[in-house]
Amino acid sequence: MAGLRFHRFDTVESTNDLALAMARESKPGGTIVIARRQTRGRGRQGRVWHDEPGAAVLMSLIASTDLESARAAPFAASLAVADCLRECCGIPDPQLKWPNDVLVRDRKIAGILVETASRPHPAVVVGIGVNVLQTSLTPEISQLATSIVLETGMELDVDELAELIAHTFFDLRDLRFEDILDQWRNYMWGVGRQADVTGEGRTVSGVISGVDSAGALLLADALGNVTSIVSAESVRISDN
Ligand code: BTN
Repeated sequence: MAGLRFHRFDTVESTNDLALAMARESKPGGTIVIARRQTRGRGRQGRVWHDEPGAAVLMSLIASTDLESARAAPFAASLAVADCLRECCGIPDPQLKWPNDVLVRDRKIAGILVETASRPHPAVVVGIGVNVLQTSLTPEISQLATSIVLETGMELDVDELAELIAHTFFDLRDLRFEDILDQWRNYMWGVGRQADVTGEGRTVSGVISGVDSAGALLLADALGNVTSIVSAESVRISDN
């Protein structure tokens, strides 16, 4: 896609913060912030996102602002990462854990943080972190996380991969939300597994059965009653 504007930095606090600031300065959709290192990388649920300088894609994109695109953004971003991992990074079976974690062999390889700014114009910022070159993960996270080099032995160019993901993401913007969801479902993790889904102080248990047309997670209980979950803090498999 033409018209993308890449802004590259060595060290920033958070590419999402910078992209949100740019959006408030009326930088248009298609603006992309890439950094080699973040000193205050942020994850979902207020978590810290750690990085090893130069070893990860650390990127935030200012996306379109219409309601449909805002709803689609987390799904389009994780889909774009999964497509790139499968088609260009030698990872045949990435999986997407609702709402938007990217997993390989049940380990997280990429995370997405979507945030919005309302002034002066509504804007959606899509933060994408992908583990690319990390070879030694701390013992606490080595069972939970992985990187492209650990999975494939390939030492990819981090900057080239960031550009590829950005182009793939923006190429999806002409699709309808339902078409993005259809593609997303092909990668969905955990379908058919018993899970505990926690959010807003309560836990719902059931079998993961898909996502509905609004992108909500569908959980079926033993009687076949289906609950749709719009947002959650954690989704944990409970049948192993
Ligand atoms: C998550 O899985 O919790 C989301 C992680 C998102 C991390 C990326 S790295 C680039 C962008 N800048 C941030 O501060 N966070 C996102």
